[in-house]
Amino acid sequence: MNEPQILLDVQGLRVSFQTPRGSVQAVSDANFQVRRGEVTGIAGESGSGKSVSAYAVLGLLARNASVEGGSAFFNGRDLLSLEEKELRKIRGSEISMIFQDPVTALDPAFTIGSFLAEVLRSHEPSISRREARRRSAQMLAAMGIPDPENVMSRYPDSLSGGMCQRVCIAAALLCTPKLLIADEPTTALDVTIQDEILSLLQQIKEEKDMSILFISHDFGVLARLCDRICVMYGGFVMESGSADQIYHSAAHPYTQALMRAIPRLENSAQEPLPSLRGEPLDPVRLPDGCVFASCCPQCSEECLRVRPVSTDLGEDHTAACHKLIRKRKKPLKTADSML
Ligand SMILES: Nc1ncnc2c1ncn2[C@@H]1O[C@H](COP(=O)(O)OP(=O)(O)OP(=O)(O)O)[C@@H](O)[C@H]1O
Ligand SMILES: [Mg+2]
Repeated sequence: MNEPQILLDVQGLRVSFQTPRGSVQAVSDANFQVRRGEVTGIAGESGSGKSVSAYAVLGLLARNASVEGGSAFFNGRDLLSLEEKELRKIRGSEISMIFQDPVTALDPAFTIGSFLAEVLRSHEPSISRREARRRSAQMLAAMGIPDPENVMSRYPDSLSGGMCQRVCIAAALLCTPKLLIADEPTTALDVTIQDEILSLLQQIKEEKDMSILFISHDFGVLARLCDRICVMYGGFVMESGSADQIYHSAAHPYTQALMRAIPRLENSAQEPLPSLRGEPLDPVRLPDGCVFASCCPQCSEECLRVRPVSTDLGEDHTAACHKLIRKRKKPLKTADSML
């Protein structure tokens, strides 16, 4: 039987946080997919809802969060409707995650060897110490760590940031997950180490036919790894398409502005997304119209009044912009229809 091409299918995701200032609308009606054997990138400025989208899928949101709508189908099951116990089984076995700061992701009280053995034991309780050590050493070697036995006897604070991230990637892959979620995994590392970790992820994707959801604010990094890219702003998906469509035929004025601001993508090892001029967005009081309207050079009266729908531009390329809706007249669904 052919497995479906889409491994993770997130539709209409809405997440809010209760805060003393009021309800923060962090993610609104977000749609994104990860296909088998592919890397989907989520791009966006700080606060655009990238991490919250990923954490919502894994059931790892803070206590003041509520998932107000949407679905996240993974291998035929809606992760958003699973009990915590079932989700816990999926986390770390079918879906693993790596984070921005590898040093704090590791417990300083455990050697790398005991940490990795614990990861294995949590999914295979009957595994012997000897087998756990053998599998851990093998995985560290596969992650390009030259002397795995030595590294396994050490504590995290005696390893470099790059080495700690390799250990975290090894831990994430020990139970052969179908999907790896990587939230800015190279942002805390210096440029040469960042480059090595990206090459490692590229190699893992190819050798293991792994699907990856890769979150980054850095278009240089996304360009290296991603098959598809989803661009977020103010908790909304502004545009999504193949990496080629996003880099060479960006349709949304926001994506176009980002692309113009990165003139020499090929040569830039690290280019953070520039902030665009306009009113800073207040997530407690989102405007009625397009969230990008106050920064948009092509803003019309309608943009200020009505929230644009996500529009199918063909070949799995979508964007939410009135200018494009008028051209296409083929809306997918409105943000408000999900309320
Ligand atoms: N625990 C929380 N309580 C209140 N608001 C929160 C909480 N966590 C996140 N938010 C808000 O949700 C929105 C999205 O945050 P998120 O962390 O997803 O941004 P991001 O795109 O990952 O940014 P960065 O690039 O800085 O990591 C922001 O407005 C943020 O302030
Ligand atoms: Mg984040």
